[in-house]
Amino acid sequence: MKSQDVAKIYSEYVLPTYKRFPICLVKGKGSRVWDIEGHAYLDFFPGWAVSGLGHCHPAVVNAIKHQARKMLHISNNFLNLKQAELAREIILASFPGQVFFCNSGAEATEAALKFARRYGAETGRFEIITMKQSFHGRTFGALSATAQDKIQNGFAPVLSGFRYAELNDLSSVEQLLSDKTIGIFLEPIQGEGGIRMATQEFMLGLRRLCDQRDILLILDEVQTGMGRTGKMFAYEHYGITPDLMTLAKSLGSGVPIGALVVSQKVRKDVMTPGTHGSTYGGNPLVAAAALAVFKAIKQERLLHHVVEMGDYLGGKLEGLKQKFSFIEEVRGIGLMRALKLTCPGAAFVDSALAKGLIINCTQENVLRIMPAMTVTARLIDQAMAILTKVFKESREK
Ligand SMILES: Cc1ncc(COP(=O)(O)O)c(C=O)c1O
Repeated sequence: MKSQDVAKIYSEYVLPTYKRFPICLVKGKGSRVWDIEGHAYLDFFPGWAVSGLGHCHPAVVNAIKHQARKMLHISNNFLNLKQAELAREIILASFPGQVFFCNSGAEATEAALKFARRYGAETGRFEIITMKQSFHGRTFGALSATAQDKIQNGFAPVLSGFRYAELNDLSSVEQLLSDKTIGIFLEPIQGEGGIRMATQEFMLGLRRLCDQRDILLILDEVQTGMGRTGKMFAYEHYGITPDLMTLAKSLGSGVPIGALVVSQKVRKDVMTPGTHGSTYGGNPLVAAAALAVFKAIKQERLLHHVVEMGDYLGGKLEGLKQKFSFIEEVRGIGLMRALKLTCPGAAFVDSALAKGLIINCTQENVLRIMPAMTVTARLIDQAMAILTKVFKESREK
């Protein structure tokens, strides 16, 4: 089989919901992946920021192997040791509270929305304020929360009860507040939105508004969470704590798991048996993998490593900005980085791929660079050498 044979099967049998590169990836290790023809690629956007520890991290693979021999799945009507341990681990790493498990970021969003609606039901409050250029997933609640036309196009009417504010403009949030507002929901750093960070002032302002009016501050840490920014969770950069937090992606470093974390400050009786559920949510297999992720982050001192490598990568990207005038801005923190360009970025992604480097382009002109947290300076150098070549060639055209 070759990539083109697999592409043929896709064109016949798989719904074309994605723009796909005609490359079939079959193997991964750390920051490298290989296609079915045996070509190697440096992966600086591993699995859409899912494989936080890199591909097939041995600790995750071993945990999966070990767990698979014992028990893959049990119903959530029974106690599940791995799920219990994982919930405790998440709470110890974040803030006192409780966890609901699901399978993806969108489902974590849905859980947060349902929680907020139920929290507000007693007082007749249901409106949730989200930010323009946000991204919270593709299910109906999540796409209704996602304030981007291109995500909502063709799916009208989306769910009612959402109001869209401008990131980093507190007055735009205040204008949307009403006696029906129950939640303010945002990513601390917008990922799909182009690596746009909430400012300190904005985040503190939101926390204050929420405290004053008994509104839930809900942070989507699906992309920023689990060490990506150099802290375990991005909210730590702001010195605030959310009331609700969603997780997925790097939580399982390759297995499908999502979570909603609810602070103990929030009323305990909101979700009772039967109000929400997920058949697979937090099953023993994925919970064992996520536990291995926590362990590896600690044992390999990855938060410290992310800060170091993030500074290193950031410096290199600043260097590229000095050289190429079409780079307008270097964005991001830790290993969640981007180059905002003055021109479209898709051709650069294609050219980098042809030279063996995987990166991403979002919002037309933002090149997103989010290597695994285990990346080394040597690999960053290799990636930067490829990017330099890509940029140089485009200038010569
Ligand atoms: C911030 C954020 N929230 C939610 C999601 C949705 O996650 P999933 O694709 O796992 O449903 C994503 C996915 O990219 C995301 O980046």
